[in-house]
Amino acid sequence: MTYETVLLERKGRVALLTLHRPEALNALDLRVMTEVVAAAEELDRDPEVGCIVLTGSAKAFAAGADIKEMRPRSYMDMYLSDWFTTWDRLGQVRTPTLAAVSGYALGGGCELAMMCDILLAADTARFGQPEIKLGVIPGIGGSQRLTRAVGKAKAMELCLTGRTMDAVEAERAGLVSRIVPADELLSEALAVAETVAGMSKPVAMMAKEAVNRAFETTLAEGVRFERRLFHAAFATADQEEGMSAFVDKRPPRFTHR
Ligand code: HXC
Repeated sequence: MTYETVLLERKGRVALLTLHRPEALNALDLRVMTEVVAAAEELDRDPEVGCIVLTGSAKAFAAGADIKEMRPRSYMDMYLSDWFTTWDRLGQVRTPTLAAVSGYALGGGCELAMMCDILLAADTARFGQPEIKLGVIPGIGGSQRLTRAVGKAKAMELCLTGRTMDAVEAERAGLVSRIVPADELLSEALAVAETVAGMSKPVAMMAKEAVNRAFETTLAEGVRFERRLFHAAFATADQEEGMSAFVDKRPPRFTHR
């Protein structure tokens, strides 16, 4: 499929999705939401895709949900359309995802980045949940995912004041895995994605599902869930290949089965 607000490129087993609504700093309107989710679901169905990278422009990953689109809506409009619920489908994508954030990742932009599995930040990145300044609160999971990522103290301050944090603060707080110089962000993101995509896809899916379960359940249940997936990995051809390759002192040739 072709999309207007998101550019889709394939680089081997890596798919690159670039938000492309430059006139509005990639503000997330209904069309962007529909297209990003459709593109991610399309890629998720493709066995040849091992990792999906989501990025924006140098100035803005995304400056939030589209304020102009939301401004005239009533409570009933929001409630009956279940505004933003489509974004939840991004969280159902089983292929590993990586957000490469440069510039503003505010409101819905921060929330979108947090929905991805790996979050890499350029040194120019700024994160925040400034919705309170607009008379609303986060609506795409920000109050929940930010709190789980950085803890109550910082999440509460950011959500109540609308203050943004730079890349260094975001890394120190545990929101991003690493900071890279802005001009190296894309190449580094693609390199990380290529590494992930080179692993066994079913096993990478298991690893992702296991880590994500930590946010949904108790420790004992999570460890039990992990153990079952670990056992299940022994049903894959890739487990046999990975371990044989180690013993034979050669790189593995995963077949993603
Ligand atoms: C609609 C937006 C937008 C947004 C920027 N634009 N952010 N349009 N929704 N979220 C538009 C501007 O109106 C402008 O278009 C153009 O993009 C460039 O933006 P400027 O403001 O001129 O750029 P700059 O001065 O560099 O400032 C950048 C910025 C600022 C600091 C990021 O744009 C800003 O504060 N944006 C809003 C950030 C925000 O509050 N995000 C949270 C949204 S609410 P025109 O045509 O006017 O020149 C949200 C909530 C989710 O995400 C859940 C709640 C229900």
